[in-house]
Amino acid sequence: MAVKKTIRAAVFPVAGRGTRFLPATKACPKEMLPVVDKPLIQYAVEEALEAGVEKLVFITGSSKRAIEDHFDADRELERALEESGKQDLLDCITNIVPPRAACIYIRQPVPLGLGHAVLCARPAVGDEPFYVHLADDLIKADMPCLEQMRRQYEQHGSSVIAVQPVPREQTGSYGIVAVDPERGGRKRITRIVEKPKPEAAPSNLAVVGRYVLTPRIFDKLEQTGRGAGGEIQLTDAIAELLADEAAYAYEFEGVRYDCGNKLGYLQANVEYAIDHPSLGGEFADYLAGFAAQLPKQRA
Ligand code: G1P
Repeated sequence: MAVKKTIRAAVFPVAGRGTRFLPATKACPKEMLPVVDKPLIQYAVEEALEAGVEKLVFITGSSKRAIEDHFDADRELERALEESGKQDLLDCITNIVPPRAACIYIRQPVPLGLGHAVLCARPAVGDEPFYVHLADDLIKADMPCLEQMRRQYEQHGSSVIAVQPVPREQTGSYGIVAVDPERGGRKRITRIVEKPKPEAAPSNLAVVGRYVLTPRIFDKLEQTGRGAGGEIQLTDAIAELLADEAAYAYEFEGVRYDCGNKLGYLQANVEYAIDHPSLGGEFADYLAGFAAQLPKQRA
């Protein structure tokens, strides 16, 4: 069994250009798209902070300056809000990242894929287990998904990969795992394949964007060649890891919104708006009224 260590770092690969959301993402990073009033990357950072991290490692690319600015203090705006007595707004822009945590930005020099992005984090993570969080996958849960996964990791000290069942015809959009159920309900991963066609998929259990990885993954990533889509895939490095170490699939509790596509992003906005403390009631009334007229409008 691997040696258990505290997870102190979270890696956020944010170098992708988000072409599916063009033109919105021409000058604005896709991770800065808001769900209601908060950018996706802030949901990601808050989830990691709730799971106890101290190092927030962003793997960035071109046109991603807005992410650094978002997590930096903006004294001018703070002063203006203070002077106009807008305390609630002031509160929501200060201390997004508490003093105990550090933001580290590493530039991915060439867009060689998710595996390569994670490898770029090695100097910041070191020889410790760490989280990988893909901000596109927004998960609404009573207990944040990374915290659920941290608790799993605490039980065995092995890598943990979040999964959820998907319709067979969608396997080509995900990493897919095959598992061997163990006593106590754990699911040990026996195979993992990146974006298999439905007929070649080992199951319908899809990897979603949350991982706890042991540092050995970095050695594997050093050796990983280009895979699906001509990119260095994290999935392929995990497949290599399985030869040396156990890794477990974890079906998290919560609802996942695929904010990497427009429909999932819109669904997230609607459902987060309904739960919003000051907006929810009015928005739910509006939506009910709108839904009642909908068949007429579409006819
Ligand atoms: C990445 C991973 C894939 C995973 C997915 C989850 O793919 O490579 O294994 O299932 O994230 O969102 P991407 O969506 O970046 O193509």
